[in-house]
Amino acid sequence: MSDITVDVHLSPDHQAQALRADVLDGLLAEPKTLPPKWFYDARGSELFERITTLPEYYPTRVERAVLAARAAEIADLTGARSLVELGSGSSEKTRLLLSALTGLDQFVPVDVSATALRESAAAIAADYPGLSVHGVVGDFTEHLDLVPGTRPRLVAFLGGTIGNLVPSERAKFLSSVRSVLFEGEWLLLGTDLVKDPPVLVRAYDDAAGVTAEFNKNVLAVLNRELGADFDLSAFAHVARWDADAEWIEMRLAARRAMRVRLAALDLSVSFAEGEQLRTEVSAKFRRSGVTRELGEAGFELVRWFTDPEGMFAVSLARAVG
Ligand code: SAH
Ligand code: TRP
Repeated sequence: MSDITVDVHLSPDHQAQALRADVLDGLLAEPKTLPPKWFYDARGSELFERITTLPEYYPTRVERAVLAARAAEIADLTGARSLVELGSGSSEKTRLLLSALTGLDQFVPVDVSATALRESAAAIAADYPGLSVHGVVGDFTEHLDLVPGTRPRLVAFLGGTIGNLVPSERAKFLSSVRSVLFEGEWLLLGTDLVKDPPVLVRAYDDAAGVTAEFNKNVLAVLNRELGADFDLSAFAHVARWDADAEWIEMRLAARRAMRVRLAALDLSVSFAEGEQLRTEVSAKFRRSGVTRELGEAGFELVRWFTDPEGMFAVSLARAVG
């Protein structure tokens, strides 16, 4: 008998309002931007899963290898009774932790993508009999206080998703994770590391064009949800390394001058030829920065796990007083 519940903290109304506000802000800004969480409708989640299998996209493979090597040690150190996963997606790598954490009685995946969350919660409940699976459809920047779990809890935030937040958002996010934890509870944080720029750029601009399709999917979301008329073929996918900020920046560049109408917002926006819309950043980290950001939020770095080539790190941190 599988034991599964799913709480939905994002009503269609709330989502519709939030999307309108974000799009209005972003498309009227200079330069234009769109916040990344809108990538992940059902199609976006599916495209992201394809990204994770691309030869150029090393983060998933390397993080999986690190988790495989260290899951037993993580289980030993934390003795976690519940595992809360933020931005859980398919929770595929998380299975390594679920299998290693012998004292675990609850798994709490949290994701904005309702379809991805329901599918993975059901698959995990089926494969881990005896584990209570309590999914939360929610925004990890807003709904952390609504996250349940038997103590001690281990909060996992994998895939380098923290890099999709800019530094001020990261500080706020890490502090809010800290504020829902008791002293002695745990955070497991996956961060992609600074490396040779061409390797980084290829991971976000693959030869098969899956990342380009993923990036443009956000325009398809706007077309569907806001009655917009973006011509996806009129935009080119751009991934560039910003050496000062140490992040990859994803953009969509207008191939020609155009006017786009967003009926639901009663808004028209114009793009100049070559004008770029920023859709996502993916920050890359160093050990010193991760240690500092964790420390500033009230976490002590207990273990820094990485692969032999130092491509990707998984940090185990403890909430301190
Ligand atoms: N953890 C998985 C998926 C990473 S992709 C992995 O390591 O492969 C990022 C995931 O975070 C997606 O599933 C997306 O739907 C989710 N996500 C993005 N922004 C979010 C937000 N603000 N709140 C909750 N989930 C979010
Ligand atoms: N968290 C992932 C990352 O930064 C998300 C991601 C991978 C992504 N490829 C992307 C986001 C392409 C936007 C575009 O690696």
